[in-house]
Amino acid sequence: MRSLDTAAAAELTSVAAELLADHGAATSPELLADLPGACARLSEEVHDALRPVDTADGLFVLRGLRPDDAELGPTPGHWSTVGDAGALWDVILLLVSTSMGTPIAWEGQQDGRFVHNIVPSPGHESAQTGASSSVLLTPHTEDAFHPGRAHLLLLCCMRNHDHIATTAASIRRTTLADGDIEQLRRPVVPILPDDAYEQAQRFSGRPAPVPTLFDTPDGLTMRFDPAYTPLDEADGTWRAAYRRLEEELARVSVAVSLEPGDVLVVDNDVVVHGRVPFDARYDGTDRWLKRASARVEGRPTRPPAEHDEHGYGQAARTPWAV
Ligand SMILES: [Fe+2]
Repeated sequence: MRSLDTAAAAELTSVAAELLADHGAATSPELLADLPGACARLSEEVHDALRPVDTADGLFVLRGLRPDDAELGPTPGHWSTVGDAGALWDVILLLVSTSMGTPIAWEGQQDGRFVHNIVPSPGHESAQTGASSSVLLTPHTEDAFHPGRAHLLLLCCMRNHDHIATTAASIRRTTLADGDIEQLRRPVVPILPDDAYEQAQRFSGRPAPVPTLFDTPDGLTMRFDPAYTPLDEADGTWRAAYRRLEEELARVSVAVSLEPGDVLVVDNDVVVHGRVPFDARYDGTDRWLKRASARVEGRPTRPPAEHDEHGYGQAARTPWAV
């Protein structure tokens, strides 16, 4: 847990409000272009609270920001009907992301927005995407199918009346036999695009196998999404190692119940995240998160061979050239 004191929270909120007033919309390209300059003007106190993840847990919760529940309006029933609801929080999340790296967006997801809205949606209750509710959202690396996936995932809580937990498990907290690690370093099966990417799922190129674990000077990193991995195609020894990894991740998993204004920052190379099942209310008071993703260039957390992957025809966009 990291706390933003009242003054630091007020500073971050007022910088975001100014940017929004200057540019009119959180999706404005000019606003996105202004983010690095605005970040550079933030005080030392705010910068210190927004430093990257620096523990083996691979995550932290930034607490101290306070949304006005009435101002937010009702929780939308689908990401596509959010419009500019909670736009101030989009900008706050973009400032936090820009302090730690470069925000990214995907043309094939949520209209190419840099900040996504995670709300339960009728008809998607049992999907393996953020729109689901009644099923466990299986622990996964965000956008695991893609070599341009985020290094950091940020979830900002707008509303969570039922204290629905986000789950997180760090590979650095697991205990695995050397033989299992050896197996999981091998590229054996691919990770396919998830259901949030219809276009990528129609990609005609051949899926390439990818390693699950990778060794770095700081410890293991992981690329993991069992719901979208054709495990049946793997040999028995590898499958057994994968199953033990799943068990270890379940053992070390922590449940984080986010409160309004909390920003959960997850190291997407070290931690897999998920969500417990819940009953959606569909009455405008449902759990509502905003999600941003950021890349941190030059991070030595991934195998160099990833550069040659096709990414199923999807490209990550950045608001400025990096
Ligand atoms: Fe996710």
